Amino acid sequence: MIVTQEKTLALQVRPDFPILDQRIHDQPLVYLDSAATSQKPTQVLQALQEYYEQANANVHRGVHTLSNRATDAYEGARDKIAAFVNAASRQEIIYTRNASEGINLVAYSWGLNNLKAGDEIILTVMEHHSNLIPWQWVAQRTGATLKFVELDVNQAFDLDQFRTLISDKTKLVSVVHVSNTLGCINPVEEITAIAHHYGAKVLIDACQSVPHMPVDVQTIDCDWLVASGHKMCAPTGIGFLYGKLDLLRSMPPFLGGGEMIADVYLDHATYADLPHKFEAGTPAIGEAIALGAAVDYLSGIGMNKIHTYEAELTAYLFQRLQEIPEIQIYGPQPDAKGEGRAALASFTAGDVHPHDLSTILDQAGVAIRAGHHCTQPLHRYLKVQSTARASLYFYNTQVEIDTFIASLKEAVEFFGGLFK
Ligand code: ALA
Repeated sequence: MIVTQEKTLALQVRPDFPILDQRIHDQPLVYLDSAATSQKPTQVLQALQEYYEQANANVHRGVHTLSNRATDAYEGARDKIAAFVNAASRQEIIYTRNASEGINLVAYSWGLNNLKAGDEIILTVMEHHSNLIPWQWVAQRTGATLKFVELDVNQAFDLDQFRTLISDKTKLVSVVHVSNTLGCINPVEEITAIAHHYGAKVLIDACQSVPHMPVDVQTIDCDWLVASGHKMCAPTGIGFLYGKLDLLRSMPPFLGGGEMIADVYLDHATYADLPHKFEAGTPAIGEAIALGAAVDYLSGIGMNKIHTYEAELTAYLFQRLQEIPEIQIYGPQPDAKGEGRAALASFTAGDVHPHDLSTILDQAGVAIRAGHHCTQPLHRYLKVQSTARASLYFYNTQVEIDTFIASLKEAVEFFGGLFK
């Protein structure tokens, strides 16, 4: 099996990522931790630098040229994001620090004001802590109950069990689109249709889908969707919340301060229209503009192209991992074309501790993640303390997977595996 699209994608974009062209412990860096954070192309770094060199000023406040320049670039990036996820209106895109802040915004603004004892919130056992803790708080403060969709035999979202959990009591279904640990791609369109049939709202955590595949909020028909910029080639400190216009209009502000107001009196205030109602204080202007540049960059390549290339890499990664009998991979298997799951593999290698594996691999220049990946309940559910995780992006190559597998074999051998 050869990764055929490498020449038309990974090898072409590699020069855009100078960070990848370095040696770690005197070995070429193999970066397989993009699910934790992606690398940033020079086009994005340049957008950030250009903003600070040529347009740095506060937005929406001044009437001077620099302020207008900054405002145009900041609001222009919002237009790009809206188009990227096919929002019906630019007012439906709220800048946040990251996906966690987007979920907290919905939990505080909508959850605390709309849920009560007897209501039910459906989550899954695979949720990232950021889609769990805010709802634990909402449940504790409102008396609502949390229910959890478990895994099916393929270690993916159990749609049948979901159908048995949902009822007229369900007011919210909040679910990850692509699991950062299992790599399963959840059927969010079907989940949303079922939830809406029962009158429940739907929030999608799209952190691991928006960077890797086309995502269309109108096709999914979700009520809210969150993503983090740093996983899609943008800097840290910027993300976005998509919400349906009428729903966002009905929600009270989350944070109070400058920017989010219309008229302020000593004892009360009125608020700005969307999206600024939810953007209190001076925002991460340069980061938002750089997120717009990241969207341009990804769109320039094409999300379908990124997805199909990553599928090829996934098929190759799984084929190669099978050469090591000690490796147990969590989550569904890809099909022959690498489709049906995301381009990452969380795994254990017999009794070898994932942190030890990761440390040995680092000596070979290979960066993978080890731990619970912010999904402790899922690891408990799987009855495993921690896993190692290799996660790919469109800039990774077949040779890098070969290097990873060779060093993984060596590590397993070193720790007393079968390769003696
Ligand atoms: N949640 C991120 C990950 O999966 C940080 O690594």
